[in-house]
Amino acid sequence: MRIDKLLEKEGFGSRKTVKRLFQKKLVKVDGQVVVEGSSNVDSSTHHITVMDQIVNGADHVYYLMNKPKGTVTARTDAKKKTVMDLIQNQDQTPNLYPVGRLDRDTEGLLLITDNGPLGYQLLLPDKQVSKTYEAIINEQVTQADVEHFKKGIVFIGGVVCKPAQLIILSASETESQVQLTIQEGKFHQVKKMFLAVGKKVIYLKRITMGPLHLEETLAPGEYRELNREELERLKEYFR
Ligand code: URA
Repeated sequence: MRIDKLLEKEGFGSRKTVKRLFQKKLVKVDGQVVVEGSSNVDSSTHHITVMDQIVNGADHVYYLMNKPKGTVTARTDAKKKTVMDLIQNQDQTPNLYPVGRLDRDTEGLLLITDNGPLGYQLLLPDKQVSKTYEAIINEQVTQADVEHFKKGIVFIGGVVCKPAQLIILSASETESQVQLTIQEGKFHQVKKMFLAVGKKVIYLKRITMGPLHLEETLAPGEYRELNREELERLKEYFR
C-alpha cells in the first residue's frame, strides 16, 4: 500500500497534512527518512514511524463501490466485466474481493476488501446484517404486501424468509417505488420476495449494508475508501 494512503487511513490527517509530514521529513521507514508518499510499504514488514510514533495499522483496504448495472460481482469472469475490473491498478491488492453478491442488473452499495475475516463475518446469517434496497416494482404495492413481508415471505419450496420491513414510497397501478430492509442474503432474495406476492422487480439498488451507507454523490462505477469513522463502526459491529 502507498505510504501516504496508509498514513491517511491511520488518522495522521488529510492528504494535504500527510504531504506536509513528508516535506518536513518526519516519516521514516526502517529508520530512513522517506519523502515520496507514493512509496509502497507493508506495516507488517516495514518499521514505519511518524515523529517516532510507530504506525502499525493492518494494511487492509476497504472500498465502498456504487456497483453499476451490467457488471458481475465476482473476482474474475471469462467473458463479462466484473466489479474488480473497475478497481484502478494502483488500488488493486492481492486477495481483494467483493463482500457478498449483487445481481448483474442490480446496482448500488458493494464493499470490496482484502480483509477476509471481516467480509466473512458480514455475511454470516447469525449476524443478521441489515441491507436496505430501493426498488421499482411493475405494479401497485399494497399495505397487504407490507403486512405479508412483515410476517415472513415463503418461497416456492417452503423456504421462509425472516420478517422484512417494506416501505411504500409511491404506488400506482403500473409502478411502485419501495424501500425494503432485510437481514439475510438468500440468492435473488428481493426479486423472489416480490415474485412470491405476484410482482416483479424492474429496478434494484442497494443503499445500505450494516453501518455503511451509499451517498448520492458516488456515481455508478465509482468507489472510494472507507473513512476512519466507517471503519470503526464496521469493526465495532463485529466485536
Ligand atoms: N436481491 C436480489 O434479488 N438481487 C440482488 O442483487 C440483491 C438482493
